[in-house]
Amino acid sequence: MEPEILLKVEGLTRHFGGLAAVSDLNFEVRRGEILGLIGPNGAGKSTTFNVISGFHKPTAGKVYFVGEDITGRNPARISRKGLVRTFQHGSLLREMTVYDNMLVATISLMRTRPERDRRVRETAEMLHLSDQLHELVGNLPHGLQRMVSIAIAFSRRSRLLCLDEPLTGLNQIEVASALAIFRRIRDEFGSTILLVEHNMKAVMEICDRIVVLDHGVFLAQGRPIEISQNEAVISAYLGKRK
Ligand SMILES: Nc1ncnc2c1ncn2[C@@H]1O[C@H](COP(=O)(O)OP(=O)(O)O)[C@@H](O)[C@H]1O
Ligand SMILES: [Mg+2]
Repeated sequence: MEPEILLKVEGLTRHFGGLAAVSDLNFEVRRGEILGLIGPNGAGKSTTFNVISGFHKPTAGKVYFVGEDITGRNPARISRKGLVRTFQHGSLLREMTVYDNMLVATISLMRTRPERDRRVRETAEMLHLSDQLHELVGNLPHGLQRMVSIAIAFSRRSRLLCLDEPLTGLNQIEVASALAIFRRIRDEFGSTILLVEHNMKAVMEICDRIVVLDHGVFLAQGRPIEISQNEAVISAYLGKRK
């Protein structure tokens, strides 16, 4: 049985020179939830992702995943344990097909070509990409490129999927479709999702709980209804946006 707390961040701090991008941050991600991590631009959301996924070393603090201290481990080891993230600014191979981009992601997962092929096709179907498998990624509209990034991360069937602003540039219909996909990923595959996102309407709709950062500092956490009524959050963040 997996523990209830999948990810635990303790006193997480990351400085860049004199800048404290994240300061003494504490939060937990519970198994099976969709946890939103929000805050204004520069709040430290991507830095938090970079540290928990091993791309940056923390200046101080600890990261525990499934009860194990993974602080400072390299990204490959962390993703093998089941913590996978997407990047805010894509890391796709634009000159290659959707199929090949996704196939690359399965190489370390499966030994045989038929197994990899099955995983790519199942994942593509889940993300509504089956009809685009043989198109070049660079030729796809932006919304579908975003879906390819998520498909690559999801092809690992990870325990924790960390998505960095996956809805940027998507139209309303694409957002609705993406949210339905996130729910299916959670409900059908038992994955837990940590979601950094600017689209407040979507965050409020899909998240079970939300953690709010401002200037690298923890500001609030709670259910969407609590966050939308929190005075500190409203003045720091929601009040500035539509
Ligand atoms: N690699 C880096 N080098 C220097 N400063 C950085 C780096 N990454 C992020 N920062 C700074 O850290 C702060 C938090 O950035 P970031 O985590 O990207 O915020 P968010 O994702 O919430 O918009 C910002 O002031 C940003 O300029
Ligand atoms: Mg960011």
